[in-house]
Parts: sequence; structure tokens; C-alpha cells
Amino acid sequence: MFGLIPLLFTALASAYPNRGPCTGNCWAHDPAMIQRVSDGKYFRFSTGMGIPTHSSPSVKGPWTDIGAAIPEGSSIHLDGVDSKNIWAPDVHYQNDQYYMYYVLSKIGTQTSEIGVATSKTMEPGSWTDHGVIGLPANNNYNRIDPAWISIGGKNYMNFGSFWGDIYQVEMESPLKVGGATPYQISWNATLNHREEGSYEFKHGDYYYLFYSAGIAGKYTKTFPAEGAEYHIRVCRSKTGLGDFVDADGKSCKETGGTMLLSSHGQVFGPGGQGVLNDKDLGVVMYYHYYPLATKQSTTESDNANYRYGWNVLGWKDGWPYVKS
Ligand SMILES: *[C@@H]1O[C@H](CO)[C@@H](O)[C@H](O)[C@H]1NC(C)=O
Repeated sequence: MFGLIPLLFTALASAYPNRGPCTGNCWAHDPAMIQRVSDGKYFRFSTGMGIPTHSSPSVKGPWTDIGAAIPEGSSIHLDGVDSKNIWAPDVHYQNDQYYMYYVLSKIGTQTSEIGVATSKTMEPGSWTDHGVIGLPANNNYNRIDPAWISIGGKNYMNFGSFWGDIYQVEMESPLKVGGATPYQISWNATLNHREEGSYEFKHGDYYYLFYSAGIAGKYTKTFPAEGAEYHIRVCRSKTGLGDFVDADGKSCKETGGTMLLSSHGQVFGPGGQGVLNDKDLGVVMYYHYYPLATKQSTTESDNANYRYGWNVLGWKDGWPYVKS
């Protein structure tokens, strides 16, 4: 009897707060968001032709479509893949310039490559493409969804989806992998073991591995089984180089992973997330979602329907939670 009341309170407290506000152009797909060092302007990059780019004076907007980052497409050529159709940008600042990692891939196959481009300003057309980072092909992983991180002064690349889920490799420079061997850092052994779109972020004493799990896209009137659509999970590690566990202490290489954000209200299938330390707002997680109303009224899934969402992350007992 008495147990019931705290249970109810817990259930209420765990409902997700709404996403933060957005004005202007609020479209995004697999977004990467970063603030320019020189003038504090925000840039948001998305999957699409030449990497669609939006900029804004703040996380909230007003966001403006400023064109394609690499309008001429990547110099990488893959059989049956349009080199202008570039996926999953990941952008970081290092050595006085911006590095953009990106993907060319034939959907649903392991015909994929991760490439890199650099720019001093991030303005459309200012990017110099350097082609592939030199990640070796392997049946155990798919070379998609790059997420760079510096740990102990060394460059690391996290990547992957399906097949063996999330892998990590040390890079000899921000442009090249070199001879290091990739190793698995997260895996869901169940059914289709879908994990992708990872993003690693240091906060306090831990490195946090955020990833998207579940079914991406194919969002039409037909609903996947409840909870099977895209959602965001998190794991943590002291070294950032493996040994990721979830909040129950379960290894993230053995189907561990703590739920951070799933469908709620108009936010259907949140994923493709990244994390940003914002000087005004604190730690911000940004992501894309498919508006529920659009999903309920469409018969064809369309990338143009995705939207940009963001929330401030709060921290409790060393774990992030989604704040308003
Ligand atoms: C692992 O995959 C199963 C089946 O798709 C899913 O129900 C479960 O939530 C996933 N677990 C994690 C930790 O991602």
C-alpha cells in the first residue's frame, strides 16, 4: 500500500521535459553542432547533399540555412554512391581549424567509407576535402557514423552500426588512422543489435558514450513495435577507451546501456545526437526527431520531415538526465 505512492512519484518524475525552443530553420538530420571560436556563431551540419549547413547566434535560433558545406561533393568514389550524398557529419576544433568527419555509404550495406575535410571558418565552400581517413574494411563493422575524441592528447575515432555496433580506433593524426586495430566498445547481443550514431563526451571523472539504438527512419503511419524506434542510450567509462558500463553496472559490450531519451509528446524517435558544452546553457544534447503529427499523416518517410531538438543535460550520481 505505502509502496504505491513513491512509485507513482517516480513515474511522474521520469516523464521527459519538452525539448528546448527553436526558431528559424529547424530542420536537421544526424546533426553536428559546434560554436565558432572567432565570433561565437553556432553551426549545425546535417546528412544530405553536400552537407546542409545552418547557422545561428544561439542554440535556440534563429537558425538560417546557409548552403552546402562541400557543394561539389566528396573526392571519395564508391560504387553506386553519389559522392554528394554525404552522411553523419561530426565536426571538431583542433590546431586552429575545424575537422569535419563524414560518411559515404550505400544504405544497408558495408560499402562505406569515412572521410575528412578541414576549414578555418566552417563557411559553406571553405572546406578542403582530404578523402578517406584510412580505416580498414572489416566484416565485423560498418564504417559509418564517425565521432572523434581526444583522450590523453591522442586522437580516437569511434564509429559503426549494426554488425558489431560501436568500434573505436586510435588515429595517428586527425586526418589518418595509421596502423592501429579497431576494437569493439559497445554491442547489443539481442535480435538486430542496432546501435549507431555514437558520441563520446568527457564530463567530470568520466567519459560518456551516447548512442542511438532502435529503428531509424521508415517513419510512416505504420508504427514499429512500441519502443523499437530510435532512442538515445548512454554508458560511461573512466578511461574512455573501453570498459563502458551502464547505470546498473552492466557492460555495454554485453547489451548494457541506460535509457536517456525516447519518444514523448511530438518527439518521435529521437537520435543522431551529439553533446556540446555551451557557455550559456551548460551541457546541451542535440538530436533529430520525427514530429509525431507528421508521422501520423504521412505514408512516405521523408528526410525533409526531421526536426532539430535539444535539451540541457542535468547530472545526478554521475549520470546525465534530460532537463527542460
Ligand atoms: C537491445 O536490443 C533489443 C532488441 O532490439 C532492445 O529491446 C533492447 O532495448 C536493446 N538494449 C539496449 C541496452 O540497447
